[in-house]
Amino acid sequence: GKSGYDHYMLKEINEQPRSLRQCLRGRVDELEGSVTIEELAGLSIPERVQFVACGTSYHAALYGELTLRERGVNAQTFMASEYDRASVPIDDETLVIGVTQSGETADTLRALRQAGQAGATTVAVTNVVGSSAARECDYTMYIRAGPEIGVAATKTFASQQTALTLLADAVADGQRRELLGALRDLPDHVQSILDESQAQEIAAEYEDAGAYFFIGRGYNYPVALEGALKMKEITYKHAEGFAAGELKHGPLALVTGETPIFAVVTGDDQRATKTIGNVKEVEARGAPVIAVTDGQSDVERYADHVLSIPETHGRVGPILANVQLQLVSYWLANSLDRSIDKPRNLAKSVTVE
Ligand code: M6R
Repeated sequence: GKSGYDHYMLKEINEQPRSLRQCLRGRVDELEGSVTIEELAGLSIPERVQFVACGTSYHAALYGELTLRERGVNAQTFMASEYDRASVPIDDETLVIGVTQSGETADTLRALRQAGQAGATTVAVTNVVGSSAARECDYTMYIRAGPEIGVAATKTFASQQTALTLLADAVADGQRRELLGALRDLPDHVQSILDESQAQEIAAEYEDAGAYFFIGRGYNYPVALEGALKMKEITYKHAEGFAAGELKHGPLALVTGETPIFAVVTGDDQRATKTIGNVKEVEARGAPVIAVTDGQSDVERYADHVLSIPETHGRVGPILANVQLQLVSYWLANSLDRSIDKPRNLAKSVTVE
């Protein structure tokens, strides 16, 4: 059942501390500074890595791609429906990782099969034990989020991001000590967001807007895309996610005082500084700005509202930021009285191409 929540979606958002603990359990040895994923024993990184996925899982894959590239791995992400052998080099020096919550998405299964036929090693990163993806791939890593009933993916996205971070650390070398501490704290940090979020008030304030934009850079770019997808799915409002730097190459023409901008800014590096530059640009057009931030940079100075997240490692902040965006979409859809757990026209698992 819904354990007292009005919707499965809200229940599942609130389950994230627990599902993330499950994802991490037994995989991280902080003292040793090591990550071990039993299911992936023996897996090594060949010449190139390709991710294939759809929807929310595609956003998680983009995040996974960055974690590998940061470690010097030649990784690329494809929408599964756009992946075909004619346009992509696939051979026995290719590792193809299918990210799929259900393990039953037709586009993703087809891409994985093509890859396997062309000699690639295949890995499924999935939530469902015994799913088609799990059965058909050479390796399967489980994200252990538990069943997700809401059509809108929530807890499984956080678990995918976390699993892919672990995967990168298990198979590719890099600095991990600081990251492992941040992963240990991740469930508690998510809990503190759930306890203190102002998302409901912000959703109420901007309920009448015609369009919502989400911007982010680097690891926060997939978060911006996911924030917009969630908003579309459950509120039926127009929402777009952009790489912050792309705004002035076109989308800025759409920005007015009626378009709230959610700016995801974590850390205080060059990326944050540049995104703050983009925030100033939209602010100058009168757009309301909601900063989703850990407070490390001075983005708050240019924002009308702040959705706070705890300060943490650069790879973990984006997982936290997304939780705030899930809550904004949920509360907006709730006050619009939408069919949150079963949005119109959508199915939980898309088994046709
Ligand atoms: O089961 P999968 O992860 O393969 O599903 C992929 C997409 O269909 C899915 O993420 C979809 O975008 C969700 N409804 C997003 O909330």
